[in-house]
Amino acid sequence: MSKKIAVLVGSLRKGSYNKKLAHEIINIAPESLEMEIIEIGQLALYNEDLDENPPAEWVEFRQKIKDADGYLFFTPEYNRSVSAVLKNALDVGSRPYGQNNWASKPGAVVSSSISALGGAVANHTLRQSLVFLDVYTMQQPEAYIGNTMGLFDENDKLKSEDTRAFLKSWVDAFAAWVHKF
Ligand SMILES: Cc1cc2nc3c(=O)[nH]c(=O)nc-3n(C[C@H](O)[C@H](O)[C@H](O)COP(=O)(O)O)c2cc1C
Repeated sequence: MSKKIAVLVGSLRKGSYNKKLAHEIINIAPESLEMEIIEIGQLALYNEDLDENPPAEWVEFRQKIKDADGYLFFTPEYNRSVSAVLKNALDVGSRPYGQNNWASKPGAVVSSSISALGGAVANHTLRQSLVFLDVYTMQQPEAYIGNTMGLFDENDKLKSEDTRAFLKSWVDAFAAWVHKF
């Protein structure tokens, strides 16, 4: 049976390498994963007062998170942390108080950066929040994608067969992880 995976990308810009990586992984994922990118840029900044009468985008987003069988996060690294838009999505999905919509589902993290470090700090900062949100985050294999400026051609296709092979083995491992739950 296929599993519905909500894909969240922590960069809003058009040319985002994280978005390109997300599309690449969606394309090579096994059929047992039904991946959908869930938009997060429209979510109002979390303010507990708004939960008395939550904005429609929050309600819709929370329902999508609840309906998913698992989560795949693509994170850039902003100032040695995750981007504000991604952290906001985590916060919105975790509320109202007592209704953590992320809980008890499998997940995984891909981080990327134009630097050689591959967003490793953001990757682990995100994992810290996922522990508290009770997302069962795949520990191995890890995915830190560095030097992203040189990865794609003018048609947004990966240039390196080695990188594609790595991403394929990684997403296959993620599918096996999700199907354990
Ligand atoms: C506000 C800001 C802070 C950044 N901080 C870091 C950082 O701490 N570490 C890092 O490796 N790259 C950092 N970068 C560079 C990002 O890795 C680069 O912009 C990357 O392409 C962002 O991901 P995207 O292509 O998906 O938008 C930063 C970029 C911005 C805009």
